[in-house]
Amino acid sequence: MSSRTIVVGAQWGDEGKGKIIDLMAKDADMVVRFQGGNNAGHTVIVGEKEFIFHLLPSGVLRPKTVCVIGNGVVVNPEALLNEVDRVTEAGISLDGRLWVSQGAHIILPYHLAYDRLIEAGAGDAKIGTTKRGIGPCYADKVARKGIRLADLLDKSAFRSRLEDVLAEKQKVVKALFNYSGPEFDIEDTYRQYSEIAERLRPFACDTAVLINRAIREDKNILFEGAQGALLDVDHGTYPYVTSSNATAGGACPGTGVGPTRIDKVVGVAKAYTTRVGEGPFPTQFEGDLLEKVRGWGNEFGATTGRPRRCGWFDGVVAKHSALVNGMDELVITKLDVLDHLDSLKICTAYEVDGRIYETLPPLASLLWKAVPVYEEMPGWKQDTSKTCEAQSFEDLPENAKAYLHRLEELTETKVSLISVGSDRDKTFAVA
Ligand code: GDP
Ligand code: IMO
Ligand code: MG
Repeated sequence: MSSRTIVVGAQWGDEGKGKIIDLMAKDADMVVRFQGGNNAGHTVIVGEKEFIFHLLPSGVLRPKTVCVIGNGVVVNPEALLNEVDRVTEAGISLDGRLWVSQGAHIILPYHLAYDRLIEAGAGDAKIGTTKRGIGPCYADKVARKGIRLADLLDKSAFRSRLEDVLAEKQKVVKALFNYSGPEFDIEDTYRQYSEIAERLRPFACDTAVLINRAIREDKNILFEGAQGALLDVDHGTYPYVTSSNATAGGACPGTGVGPTRIDKVVGVAKAYTTRVGEGPFPTQFEGDLLEKVRGWGNEFGATTGRPRRCGWFDGVVAKHSALVNGMDELVITKLDVLDHLDSLKICTAYEVDGRIYETLPPLASLLWKAVPVYEEMPGWKQDTSKTCEAQSFEDLPENAKAYLHRLEELTETKVSLISVGSDRDKTFAVA
């Protein structure tokens, strides 16, 4: 049966969305990215081959699936073309099945310079961004100073937008950072990007029309979220967030599809928690345990290579995520990483200055001080990655089943799929 399903990260990103989208894309006619940019790194492993997608939807490896980059995505043209080249070299044809919205905003060199300069100047208040120019590009979009793919493809529109926008930016970076690098040069940018535009032209279209036509034809469509709910600019741990709506609601403005057309929201969460970059993380491990779990889970960023911070499953975070996403189902990944532990903790609330919070406190300053209230459960000390050979939830160790049931209770959401390894086949549905 076909449906329109939004798949989002339920924590701080890197939950394994790429693997799950690739798996679900087996039956999908179309996969659509709706926000974020090449700050995302979505890993898909098929046999010996590993692909990390930053802008291309994770349905690319399914030859009949149409891949769409919606208007809500911020597109770095060189990064996109590099990915197209890499995928093409691997023998995967994108002919007629990759489309980029004309309304998508373009990341230009001055956005990258701005991201770098702001972070370098922020000292202890830095966000720990991926330095891909994401925040500055979205800021320009909202300030109505952005350049969209449609502008880039029209030489005179591009020229006049650049002249309007860059003249002002040159003054600002000079005054704020005493910087006047080549990234702010109008002529250079115009020349370089007018050429790049020609390579993007064949992919450009009105993707809202394309997607809505597919909906009318009752196609099976996946909307692929990047980042995660706790990095959402409205619902995350502000200001330590990204600059877009990574929650399910973002799929509508990010594609031009109305909310009445969506059937289902699926959240993806790790069986524990990770975070890259700065910001509060109440359940973070310390010392030995941090190193061990990072090693078992190979927790290094798919985009920047930075070591990920790791911690216990945070029920406050997951419950918040289920709520703000209107989550229908939960996918739990990386259960296998917990196979080695004697006992496991789950955070059910925070204590801050003597007060108990069962929902997410509204300020980062409170979250920095949050002391998790934990429940402890026995581990299972068995190799769960073997379970998928039997393909059944019932074959999991009893303690693993109890752990998953507790996650369901805390999030009030049914676990529909469990992942116990990075390969496609290391996954099984819960009946
Ligand atoms: P995404 O950004 O949500 O797509 O996630 P990333 O690709 O950044 O990070 C997830 C990492 O976990 C990748 O290296 C995956 O190959 C790996 N992975 C996904 N699911 C599992 C799983 O169930 N078990 C293990 N051990 N690794 C997994
Ligand atoms: P995927 O899609 C994990 C984090 C950065 C930083 C903050 C802001 O692979 O899950 P930005 O460059 O967006 O301005 O950085 O957000 N971040 C991610 N963390 N996974 C991601 O994407 C992320 N994209 C951004 O580390 O803390
Ligand atoms: Mg990632």
